[in-house]
Amino acid sequence: MRLNPYLGRPLYVDRGEGPYLYGLDGKRYIDFNMSNGAALLGHDHPAVKEAVLHGVALGIICAAETPFHERLAARLVEIIPAAERVRFSSVGSEVTLVALRIARHATGCTKYLKFDGHFHGLTEPWLYRRDDPLHETSAIVPSSGGVPASGAGDLVIVPWNDVAAFERAIAGHGDELAAVFCEPIHYNAGCIPAEPGFLELLRGRCTERGIVFVMDEVLSGFRTHLGGVQAQSGVTPDLTTHAKALANGLPLASVSGREDLMLNLAPTGPVVHSGTYSGHLLSVLAALATLEELSQPGVFDRINATAETFYRDLQAVFDRAGVPARVQGMGARFGIYFGITERVRTWSDALGHDHDLNRRFTAGCFDRGVYFHAYTRQGPPGHSGFSLAHSDADFAETLSVVETVARGLLAA
Ligand SMILES: Cc1ncc(COP(=O)(O)O)c(C=O)c1O
Repeated sequence: MRLNPYLGRPLYVDRGEGPYLYGLDGKRYIDFNMSNGAALLGHDHPAVKEAVLHGVALGIICAAETPFHERLAARLVEIIPAAERVRFSSVGSEVTLVALRIARHATGCTKYLKFDGHFHGLTEPWLYRRDDPLHETSAIVPSSGGVPASGAGDLVIVPWNDVAAFERAIAGHGDELAAVFCEPIHYNAGCIPAEPGFLELLRGRCTERGIVFVMDEVLSGFRTHLGGVQAQSGVTPDLTTHAKALANGLPLASVSGREDLMLNLAPTGPVVHSGTYSGHLLSVLAALATLEELSQPGVFDRINATAETFYRDLQAVFDRAGVPARVQGMGARFGIYFGITERVRTWSDALGHDHDLNRRFTAGCFDRGVYFHAYTRQGPPGHSGFSLAHSDADFAETLSVVETVARGLLAA
């Protein structure tokens, strides 16, 4: 995913500083990827750097418990509504797998439900897709080599924001499901929020049927609210996963949630989870520093106000230039859908995304020093985002570049 398929190569980076990446030739780019969303405070943040250097001075320790781990877990319990107990790990892909393992043990069921196109990492349970993405009843098949077709039998896939389809899936499989997983804001298809009442519906049905409800906040965590979508919406899942912005660029992830579920993990229960680098001290110290910064008064008011203005201005630029594009964003991350002008409310709405227009847009911005990452040349667009280090001047420069590129898109 370091390859930018629109550029046909990765952006080779010399260093990052605040909102900028510098190429090997010294060229400065205003970065709207921000380490796939990890660097919410900006690159090379001084408090995070100091924390990491503290960890270096302490001996670069991993596979050992310290008071810092306890302090970080306690802070997450304060911040994240679902978190009664916290387990650290290194990457998002691992904690979503562990959450499923806990749910399967707790319920005695093996099946699990996910939503079309929601991304929960690259471990086996998530490497399946619908054979025909536009048909809800089409077969579920492996989306990668090396993944057994037999695993598809455990998976129920439902379109996001589709109440009737979800109700049908619960009526048909409710007694067999260990877990319902979702990205509570579907950023991995640009930015598709849950429709009003949808998260409440998932919560309600999971409670009624004894299914473990998991919000994967690897990307949405700390993005719109310190406590994530669960704090903002008031809908508390049973388990939740975090990574990315948690340690501002250092590898750290967590699975947390209801105490009775979490105690199933070894050593208090039989569900295994361990890892040499899990909860690496450098990452834990970086996370403590990151959360301290994110907990300052007004931080999320600022993020949300910036988001509102920037996304509105970006949309206005496309509209003025006559480019068919729709900007959807919440908090510090957003998606730009090219060739689509109606509101995108489910993954299949986003399948009409015009990759050729997006490619020309990305290349034009790149030439002019504004970096938008791309993850794929198929299906919906990926997500972009800004950091707390992006200044008014950076947004103004970006809008001016986008205006120039957008005008050229239709002329070309
Ligand atoms: C919602 C979500 N879950 C899980 C993951 C996997 O995280 P990682 O890349 O740290 O394995 C990602 C990564 O983009 C993600 O966006």
